[in-house]
Amino acid sequence: MAQFADLRHFIDTQDFTKEELLDLLELIRLMKEADKQGVTPKLLQDTSLAMIFEEPSTRTRISFEVAMTKLGGHALYLKPGEIHLGARESIDDTARVISRMVDVIMARTLKHETLLKLAEAASVPVINGLTDYNHPTQVVCDVFTMMEHMPAGRRLEDLHVTFIGDATNVLNSLMFICTQMGMHFTHAAPQKYQPPPAWQEIAAANCAQSGGSLTVTTDVQDAVRTADFIYTDLWWWVGQEEQIPERRAAFMPGYQVNMDLLKKAPQHCKFMHCLPASRGVEVTDEVMDSPRSIIYDQAENRLHVEKGILVWLVYPRLKRPSPALRAYHAGRIQAFVEGLGN
Ligand code: CP
Repeated sequence: MAQFADLRHFIDTQDFTKEELLDLLELIRLMKEADKQGVTPKLLQDTSLAMIFEEPSTRTRISFEVAMTKLGGHALYLKPGEIHLGARESIDDTARVISRMVDVIMARTLKHETLLKLAEAASVPVINGLTDYNHPTQVVCDVFTMMEHMPAGRRLEDLHVTFIGDATNVLNSLMFICTQMGMHFTHAAPQKYQPPPAWQEIAAANCAQSGGSLTVTTDVQDAVRTADFIYTDLWWWVGQEEQIPERRAAFMPGYQVNMDLLKKAPQHCKFMHCLPASRGVEVTDEVMDSPRSIIYDQAENRLHVEKGILVWLVYPRLKRPSPALRAYHAGRIQAFVEGLGN
């Protein structure tokens, strides 16, 4: 197990080796197994997490807050506009101040640069809760969910993952982690919505090291032919409303995940989506609600993954005072308080 007593942030899976990520996935597996039997060790007792959000969230917000509570700690929800972050106070100052009060920070920022600045100035671990560049906690969850639903007798390195649709921050992260792990990753999208060369170069370098493969294609029918998992994401996001007609015309109908497309994949192929989804747009209700859909397992796993990431980054850094030292200080403070007013 990697030792993280030194400060490590969770900004990008590319910052970790395959072995480190496999350690993390095993920790998550153990924590989920324990949780299902009603056991969550209070490994982060008396610790605090600051959750900074510049955008709304359902899964990320709830999973991190519940994870901290289950681990014996506490989470502060700092909603969009609630704290100074680059306005009225520099990002550096905000990061330094928050670091003096909490043990770990999770941030969802509009710009990736904001998160990088926050991490550079922070003296506690910073976890990326999604930026315009990537979404690493989501894709650790996705690989964990794939491991749970892997066809019998297969290894991670045998899996074929096909992502259909826009080259979003989730596509970026998923392409990176799958190629890091030695999996076979295909992205099917119209040319205009394929990942930029810089992202493809990172994934190709991962493949050269891991033995995985990367295919980027416009041929969606061919892309699903050997898929073990089909994954899609929104075709447009907040701020892209003006592009809706153009994007809809580019993706519809060929890139919509519907039953006709799913039938072209092997029988065992499962459907995944990071959610939120636009039902009837990038995916039909029939697929979302079919027995081949594992979207709610995937969503639940965010909770187990956040517990694993928090313990992985924070637990080795905690300084636990001895019972004798605790008793010494408690006694002195208690004696002082009891003497007040005498
Ligand atoms: N998948 C995901 O990050 O969901 P939220 O935006 O609800 O956090």
